[in-house]
Amino acid sequence: MKTIIAISGSLRQGSSNHAILEFLSSQLPADVNYTFYNGLIDIPAFDPGLDTDTPPAAVALLRQSLIKADGFIICTPEYAFGVPGSLKNMLDWLVSSSTLVDKPVALITASLGGEHAHASLLLTLGALSANVIDDATLLIQFIRAKFGPDGHIKDEETLKNLQGVLSCFLKAI
Ligand SMILES: Cc1cc2nc3c(=O)[nH]c(=O)nc-3n(C[C@H](O)[C@H](O)[C@H](O)COP(=O)(O)O)c2cc1C
Repeated sequence: MKTIIAISGSLRQGSSNHAILEFLSSQLPADVNYTFYNGLIDIPAFDPGLDTDTPPAAVALLRQSLIKADGFIICTPEYAFGVPGSLKNMLDWLVSSSTLVDKPVALITASLGGEHAHASLLLTLGALSANVIDDATLLIQFIRAKFGPDGHIKDEETLKNLQGVLSCFLKAI
């Protein structure tokens, strides 16, 4: 049984990034345990002074979940030409603990444009020595236009690309 942790960089109710992660969940084989990480809102602002072996409880919980996981999927929008602050803040808490070292990571940036956040996250994940799987990175632009009124992805190419990302990621974990 493999375990994947999925995180949306958008906290918005009705988020397209969250919907993408739901779609990926629907495509998984039965022997994969797929867990949404919903604790982003509870992670305190990064403070190097508190970044010890006994960090704030929400950070300890995050680190434990990620250490046990076989892979990590990040799906995020871009805000103000950058990575959403809450997501970057969370990643900052993972630097000293080496939690993501060699951990297989899939990165999907789904936004209006998104290229700045995508590039920036690749740099940050590199700094964390994560094992970003080459064929499991995807930038989806004009994301809102890829959804139908029922809240499901309607764009065939996007669906195909997402299935490709998942398939490569599953092979890597
Ligand atoms: C404050 C704010 C800033 C934004 N800045 C950007 C931006 O710089 N680049 C971009 O591609 N999209 C930007 N967007 C648009 C988001 O990509 C779009 O709202 C996206 O759907 C958010 O993802 P979600 O549907 O998962 O919440 C911004 C949205 C907000 C609310």
